[in-house]
Amino acid sequence: MTQNLFQPIAVGPFTLPHRVAMAPLTRSRAGQPGDVPTALNIEYYRQRASAALIVTEATQVSRQGQGYAWTPGIYNQTQVDGWHAVADAVHGAGGLIFMQLWHVGRVSHPSFQPGGALPVAPSALPVPGKTFIVDASGQGVWGDIPVPRELTLQGIRAIVEDYRQAARNAMRAGMDGIEIHAGNGYLIDQFINSQSNHRQDAYGGHHRNRARLLLEIVETVADEVGADRVGVRLTPMGRFMGMGDDTPEETFGYIVESLNRFGLAYLHLVEPMMVGTVKDEQEDPRWELIIRDLRRIWRGVLILAGGYDAKSAEEALASGRADLIAFGRPFIANPDLPRRLREGLPLNAPDPASFFGGDHRGYTDYPLHG
Ligand code: FNR
Repeated sequence: MTQNLFQPIAVGPFTLPHRVAMAPLTRSRAGQPGDVPTALNIEYYRQRASAALIVTEATQVSRQGQGYAWTPGIYNQTQVDGWHAVADAVHGAGGLIFMQLWHVGRVSHPSFQPGGALPVAPSALPVPGKTFIVDASGQGVWGDIPVPRELTLQGIRAIVEDYRQAARNAMRAGMDGIEIHAGNGYLIDQFINSQSNHRQDAYGGHHRNRARLLLEIVETVADEVGADRVGVRLTPMGRFMGMGDDTPEETFGYIVESLNRFGLAYLHLVEPMMVGTVKDEQEDPRWELIIRDLRRIWRGVLILAGGYDAKSAEEALASGRADLIAFGRPFIANPDLPRRLREGLPLNAPDPASFFGGDHRGYTDYPLHG
């Protein structure tokens, strides 16, 4: 049977009424001090509760896991309470919400780190890219990323435990599930890709070793909250933040095959052209083969994201490329996106200048369709 955007679908223990999901979107508006969701954040998510599934903005599992100004955390009770109000508002409006758990690894700055330490990474290699820090006057500015320090085995174990605690906290905060952010050049992706992982221990070298951290985190989080409430987001072949892998077919094929054994809620992949916040000019011809392979290997629900509109989303479902589509920027600008897509209504355009940081403008003031 061919699938379309407005058919229900089972995801883990849930039945979603349609296939229009909200992609995870960092907006850098968490309350300060403490990186805690506020009334403004509650309103933003409540407005978008008609999504089949909301995946929250990436949320750091620890202070060490933070790399951008004003992103929310889920590692203390105040943050749990803040997120609980978000989950309650989304549920009150009939929605479903998974929290995306995040550790940025090397994409950070000493100003975020406990004790002003260097950020951590699989290997101490320079990082191409910038991160969003707070300057002396309290303004958000793009800052250079220092060469990180290589994680010890003990450091890796501590991070896996941080994920366990964060997943527990997220469920205590009323979340319906967890999405593990394993893409976009952040910590887990830094381990996966050969370009950023030069380790020679059990976490580096062969792709099985480079996938180890992800699989340990998935196992730990699944053990904590139940595998059918866990999704994983990967960005195979994304180049954002200096990613690159010598053998993407083998690496990601092995990862997806390995994920099958858990019985997860879903796998979430991003079209590699849209892994950053601007479209990549160079398309890699191997992607079409890889996505076909991964689709064939994966035995669960597949979400795809990255540059979709109503037409391409319907095509992706009809052709069996995906089971659900996650929309990012269209959901920023259109809180009532599912209705607009269903009824063929025009869309508001997103304003990139207000994506990161700021107040309600460009956040909760995009109008509903009349
Ligand atoms: C993102 N994206 C993103 N991805 C992710 O896994 N976690 C995150 O926190 C964020 N944050 C984020 C912020 C902003 C402002 C943008 C524009 C994007 C990527 C996002 O989820 C999505 O994959 C891309 O935006 C591509 O989808 P669209 O926007 O073309 O539908």
